[in-house]
Amino acid sequence: MPRIGKLIKHFDGMHFRMASKSHSCFVSQLAKHMEKCNSKPKPLPEYIKENINVIDNNEEIKVNLGTLSDEELLAIIARVCKIHSEYVGELPVSVGRHPVLETTLASLTESRGSWRHVFQSSSILYNMAEVGVLTSGETRSTYVEFGSGRGQLSYAVGQAVDLETDALLMIDKSSPRHKHDNRYKVDGESHASIHRVRADIADVDLGQVPLVRNDTRRLVGIGKHLCGAATDLALNCLYRANNPNGLVQGVCIALCCHHQCTWRHYVGKAFFKELNLSQTDFAILRAMTSWAVCGSRQAKEHSEAVQDNEVKTSILPGRYAAMGLDIERRENIGRQCKQIIDRGRVEFLSSWPLQAKLLYYVEPDISPENVLLLAHAS
Ligand SMILES: C[S@@+](CC[C@H](N)C(=O)[O-])C[C@H]1O[C@@H](n2cnc3c(N)ncnc32)[C@H](O)[C@@H]1O
Repeated sequence: MPRIGKLIKHFDGMHFRMASKSHSCFVSQLAKHMEKCNSKPKPLPEYIKENINVIDNNEEIKVNLGTLSDEELLAIIARVCKIHSEYVGELPVSVGRHPVLETTLASLTESRGSWRHVFQSSSILYNMAEVGVLTSGETRSTYVEFGSGRGQLSYAVGQAVDLETDALLMIDKSSPRHKHDNRYKVDGESHASIHRVRADIADVDLGQVPLVRNDTRRLVGIGKHLCGAATDLALNCLYRANNPNGLVQGVCIALCCHHQCTWRHYVGKAFFKELNLSQTDFAILRAMTSWAVCGSRQAKEHSEAVQDNEVKTSILPGRYAAMGLDIERRENIGRQCKQIIDRGRVEFLSSWPLQAKLLYYVEPDISPENVLLLAHAS
């Protein structure tokens, strides 16, 4: 096709520029071209509905901790400690390994990052099995992994269940390379049971995804390092799919990046309201969650990854030392803030009703983001 510059020069008013801006064609040939053009917008699948899993449209409030007075900061810290001790307490530790990943673990050295990820997946599977949501052949289940990335966790689940009867659905807005799904070809697994949806979780009407709509399999929602608000979107997505038939059998999400939580997506608003915590309090707690890693080597990466005043201010040490908030104390308060936010998620799941809890699924040296949200039907 002639270049656009030449067209303008010789056929001004006769050319048509396509939406993609990558190419153009003559007006007289437009109808024919549109039949085969790869750039024309494709109709969205019917299960994609913009913002269907977003709870409200409230303006997000951001709080820079540096703008709070010492008295204000110490007062909210005192509230955090009280609420944590009354409603969260010390989380149980439940670190375990699932047999399906033993061979993979043995083939990797412990110093490698990939070993840590496989170890985390192994403990996630162990905990799912402990509460009966990882079953092989007993119940027909669809495992929906939110923020699946390369699909490592789903691949491990696929090895533990029976893909003749169970199914996997991975949802992620990005499409990374080297997906674990490709290994199923090597394993000779049926593609009929393995599905991927590339979309923002905010927009997925799970009950309308053909795999879910045309089937009676029970649903288990899973996720590993599902950042901030994406966890709330996933929980809302499952909540909608659960009603009215109670399809959701379990939820198992390794939580992370609470500094990326947002009030408009947060599912624990009722819990916060019950505790008289406002949207501004939520924003302060969210800012303090970044303290959880302020003494670790992750702090630098963390603050670089999140170009946010909340985080940058929170790792400035001078003022806090004068207030008696040394690194260890701030780390502890940061963890408590994360767990209070997570407690709101537990309350949300309990209202479905599911039996829900928080636990440490790996030691902090494996991952500082080591809390698992685990729920199952009774
Ligand atoms: C930290 S990565 C974890 C990836 C993978 N679960 C793992 O453990 O290796 C978070 C993933 O969630 C996806 N994600 C985050 N927010 C999302 C959203 N709103 N909708 C869909 N995917 C999302 C990102 O694209 C990314 O792949």
